[in-house]
Amino acid sequence: MACIDIDILFAKQLLESGEVVAIPTETVYGLAANAYDEAAVLKVFHIKQRPTSNPLIVHVGSIDQAGELVKEFPSQAAKLAQRYWPGPLTLLLPKKSIIPNIVTAGSQHVAIRIPNHPTTLKLLQGLSFPLAAPSANPFGYISPTTPEHVQEQLGATIPYILAGGTCKIGVESTIVGFENGKTMVYRLGGLSIESIEEIVGPVVYVNKNHISTVHKQNLITPGSFLQHYSPRKPLELGNVEELLVIHKNKKVGILAFDKYYKGVDKEHQILLSSKSNIEEAAYNLFSGLRKLDQLPVDIILSTYVPNIGLGRAINDRLMRASASTK
Ligand code: TXA
Ligand code: MG
Repeated sequence: MACIDIDILFAKQLLESGEVVAIPTETVYGLAANAYDEAAVLKVFHIKQRPTSNPLIVHVGSIDQAGELVKEFPSQAAKLAQRYWPGPLTLLLPKKSIIPNIVTAGSQHVAIRIPNHPTTLKLLQGLSFPLAAPSANPFGYISPTTPEHVQEQLGATIPYILAGGTCKIGVESTIVGFENGKTMVYRLGGLSIESIEEIVGPVVYVNKNHISTVHKQNLITPGSFLQHYSPRKPLELGNVEELLVIHKNKKVGILAFDKYYKGVDKEHQILLSSKSNIEEAAYNLFSGLRKLDQLPVDIILSTYVPNIGLGRAINDRLMRASASTK
């Protein structure tokens, strides 16, 4: 099993010697390696069992460091970075050759962000290289929001989990790029579309779910697979009262937004936010799905949450989780 502790210096030494270390961020835990070290980056792909066609986000400790990795920093990108970094915003920018192709899966764009977590910021600021880090879960499974989640699934394959408590936001970063002067959102996440539009005006959201698998490899974000963030149990999404009638002969678990449903044991129901608060719902989403996945139920039923702010990212994750279990 991996050691779970708060020793930033030890994490630094492991990373410097080409090891993979789990790190806390405000969104989800990451599985980090020296982004300049191809062999270390390859370990990340192997540990996650992730196809090397699916690129990794590069984490840096300052805007200046990000600037050193890219050929250009469009003015919209600079405005967003100044306002929302450190934070749940990933910018897709043209890369310099210092970033190995394996990190970007051959793309000439690199995804970069400054995570907003004091431990990881301190780690990054003490390193002479950036960290390539996907979420620290096996490919396709629910992302981890606590050190224990990482331990459960990847503990046997990594030496160290740098502990930083429960992730404050709970869903992955929003991925933003720029095409022909337009601001594009490629993945909904912890920074709402509304917040981005406040700074750069209207954005275009590219919903990858309607694109066939054949074309996926050529996409700018090849990792936006529909089958993602999934529990092992089947998950059905929609009107829970109606779903309860359809599945009346099964043992059901419910992921509810703000109220319990009648006729199902409360122990088999998880409330995302009793106060109907969307941020709280995002914070509880992945741990709620994990808990339900571990309960003795046959199927998980879930409702959509209001489609505003982080609600869009929550609904996106739920939709992907349900798609893969059909
Ligand atoms: O919040 C987050 O973004 C977390 C924490 C650890 O920072 N990371 C994360 O990484 O969610 P991952 O690997 O699970 O998801 C990254 C997404 C994938 O869909 C990937 O395809 C896309 O970002 N991506 C990464 N680099 C890219 C690139 N160069 N071009 C296009 N898409 C890229
Ligand atoms: Mg992931």
